[in-house]
Amino acid sequence: MDFKKLVAERISENIELPIEKVEEFIEIPPKADMGDFAFPCFQLAKTLRKSPNAIASELKEKINKDGFEKIESLGPYLNFFVDKEVFAKNTLEKVISEGEKYGHTNVGEGKNVALEYSSPNIAKPFHVGHLFSTAIGNSLYKIMSSQGYNCIRLNHLGDWGTQFGKLISAYKRWVDEEALEKETIKELLRIYVKFHDEAEKDPSLEEEGRRYFKNLEEGSEEETKLWERFKELSLKEFDRVYKMLNVEFDYYNGESFYGDKMDAVVEEIDKKGLLTDSNGAKVVMLDDYNMPPCIIKKSDGATIYATRDLAAAIYRKNTYDFYKSIYVVGLEQSLHFKQIFTTLKLMGHEWADDCKHIGFGLVRFSDKKLSTRRGEVIFLEDLLKESIDKTMEVIKEKNAELENKEEVAEKVGIGAVVFTYLKNNRERDIVFSWNEMLSFDGETGPYIQYSYARGKSILRKLGTVCEEVDYSKLSSKEEFELIKTLEGFNNAITYSIDKLEPSIVTRYVIDVAKGFNKFYNLHSIINAEDEETKKARLKLVEATCIVIKNALALLGIEAVEKM
Ligand code: ARG
Repeated sequence: MDFKKLVAERISENIELPIEKVEEFIEIPPKADMGDFAFPCFQLAKTLRKSPNAIASELKEKINKDGFEKIESLGPYLNFFVDKEVFAKNTLEKVISEGEKYGHTNVGEGKNVALEYSSPNIAKPFHVGHLFSTAIGNSLYKIMSSQGYNCIRLNHLGDWGTQFGKLISAYKRWVDEEALEKETIKELLRIYVKFHDEAEKDPSLEEEGRRYFKNLEEGSEEETKLWERFKELSLKEFDRVYKMLNVEFDYYNGESFYGDKMDAVVEEIDKKGLLTDSNGAKVVMLDDYNMPPCIIKKSDGATIYATRDLAAAIYRKNTYDFYKSIYVVGLEQSLHFKQIFTTLKLMGHEWADDCKHIGFGLVRFSDKKLSTRRGEVIFLEDLLKESIDKTMEVIKEKNAELENKEEVAEKVGIGAVVFTYLKNNRERDIVFSWNEMLSFDGETGPYIQYSYARGKSILRKLGTVCEEVDYSKLSSKEEFELIKTLEGFNNAITYSIDKLEPSIVTRYVIDVAKGFNKFYNLHSIINAEDEETKKARLKLVEATCIVIKNALALLGIEAVEKM
């Protein structure tokens, strides 16, 4: 039984307002002593020509109280206190019977979502910012899929642009083949940096780089082969990271994929009369929108990042007929996406309103040590490995007997990093700190994992209860609060989709774990007052574990059974 619906039904029986409307007005009171649901009577005052307070107290007398412990009026509010036993039974039985599907619905069925995330650049390090995009994108994929949306996972690789001409030039001059095979990106980065240093002394290098890129654009064999090799080797390295994170994509259509789709876009823009000359470059003026022009073609005729994004947006609409097209990219590209979406709109594509830039903040490090490894950039693979190693140390210290330490360290260590990324509002910057991130208490991945493993260990020891239990035994404040939290899982998911914000699910799972620990610390399960209470509490533990595991899965984090 859905209590919110029941509340709406009971109210609607007494007033002239359809159930759905009533439901919209129902609130969750800020304090437990104000009940579980509240109905504010203000909006009825006008039609009923009575004060909200009077309406509340009259309703209180008339209303059918079945299924509720009590219904009270408090000023203009009508407060509903659910029958705790019925509520516990409904909620826990639903969680346990639905299992890994608990929280899932199919409200998004039939809706396609083009979901772009990660999108690292070939021949460049997969850095901490790309992990931000990867973690958010992967989580949005899991969250939206859980509600039946059909997400198409896109990796918009940065695999095109003048930098590849420079890289080819650098390759021909300075590459160390052995290093390239062994540590591709490190080597490509080394020669790329060298190119820039050398070009400062010898500007003709820039010219050479431009020439190579032109050859590449014209499909010349030698340059194309080199570029393909850079791409293949880079992808191999990225793939290792994706495997560690358990992240997948449906398509790796990078920027180069749109090479042959841009002429049509430029033509379309021109036809709509939007193309303006600006010092030899072709641009779309966006003065009316208080934005600098969107550059479509550079003065040398080369297309750029923005043109490829316009082509990609149109391609995605035509190919996936999306309901929403989501771009998980750092906030520093906000202006770029505003320009793209506005240009699309000017071109007459009304669906530009369905394109959403999902931005995120910067990543900083409190541990100095982190930023100096392998030069100035932090390689993500190193970061993840370090997290696994550090987690391993903690495990060895806390639970030396644990059998599958490696697997646990991997899941918990990587989970800790991902959790850190998804913990706060995505637009907030992250300050990375090992101590904080790997702590077993506080709002961390390991804390959640540990709570789950603790629950599982109780269930292993005492066994799950199959028979019907006496839910009236779960009447303490802590038990009831936890059950209420478990009941709110789908609400949290829905809200997080609404805001395209995984942190809502992260905060939710933190609430579950905190509620669980409060309950567990105050109410013994092994030494419960009586057998019936013990059984009821075991049901609560079982349901809690299911919800924690499901919620972690939505964040892209795997729970461990023992730790
Ligand atoms: N490769 C870009 C970068 O590393 C991100 C690509 C963003 N996506 C897009 N459609 N422009 O900054």
